[in-house]
Amino acid sequence: MLIKRQRGFDLPESSATAEDLFHQRRTLLKAAGFGALSAGAGLFMGQARAEESDPTADLYPVKRNESYSLQRSLTDESLTSTYNNFYEFGSHKQIWRRAQDLKTRPWTVTFDGLVEEKREVDIDTLIRAMPLEERLYRHRCVEAWSMTIPWSGFPMKALLDYARPLGSAKYVEMQTFMDPSVAAGQKQVWYPWPYGEGLTIEEASNDLTFLVTGAYGKPVAKQYGAPLRLAVPWKYGFKSIKSIVRFNFTDERPATFWETINKQEYGFWANVNPEISHPRWSQATEKPLGSSDRIPTQIYNGYGEYVADLYAGMESEGDRLFR
Ligand code: MTE
Repeated sequence: MLIKRQRGFDLPESSATAEDLFHQRRTLLKAAGFGALSAGAGLFMGQARAEESDPTADLYPVKRNESYSLQRSLTDESLTSTYNNFYEFGSHKQIWRRAQDLKTRPWTVTFDGLVEEKREVDIDTLIRAMPLEERLYRHRCVEAWSMTIPWSGFPMKALLDYARPLGSAKYVEMQTFMDPSVAAGQKQVWYPWPYGEGLTIEEASNDLTFLVTGAYGKPVAKQYGAPLRLAVPWKYGFKSIKSIVRFNFTDERPATFWETINKQEYGFWANVNPEISHPRWSQATEKPLGSSDRIPTQIYNGYGEYVADLYAGMESEGDRLFR
């Protein structure tokens, strides 16, 4: 984003996990129990303990929805869990250790604004009320690196049914927790904390829009944005807000974190388009984490068949739809 690029993604091709290998590991996970798999995969024990003691750990792994598959290898968990953007914990990619300080229970999610009734719900009650499934998604950052991740969670459409927004709501604004005592980045007053993002109600209702509660067959690790994170894979990664505490329904387009910082570089729509470069990064190609080669980027990150209709008739937005 605004910082100089780290070179942490320059890892060998051999580190990427083929999808069938991941399937085998997943079967192992079921057979041997999660602890054994973690040790076998060489994951970090502190993090693994946190995931095991998660009050929703019994729900995972969840059934995969085969409609969302990939023509790419999955990226190995050891890579995706150690190369993250989570500015609350620092502006470099290796924040995963610091993110372990985040206390994810108790955790309350608020639904307010233009809703039938304001609601506050405990995260475990919410997760248990939602139709959980696994989806394999691409994840493309405006910094021109990409990953493929097995997320678990539920369609945002189900959350809208739960929240019951009024017909007058046009947007849903989402906010991350605010606690500078655990997230030192939030002491940096030049950032517009708390991190906020927004979608139109039509975008939020799209089949692809997913709320993440798990990854790699277990509760989602803190550095990915536990306990609740958005995944909108046709948009640049900065739209996928982490560690959400609030959904505010509104009829005004919300000001988002990165747009507030620099609206020339980061807009509200942020749809992936290889032909429209960011001022500092060409978007024509991307570097999959764990690969030494760049690959061509696709419009809407390859998800045009699901989402292109959302933007029909919006030609007047021009390039702004894609930054
Ligand atoms: N959400 C919060 N709360 N704070 C952040 O700094 N970074 C965003 C997005 N969501 C961010 C966030 C950016 S810039 C990206 S690319 C993705 O999270 C990174 O997700 P990942 O670390 O799981 O790859």
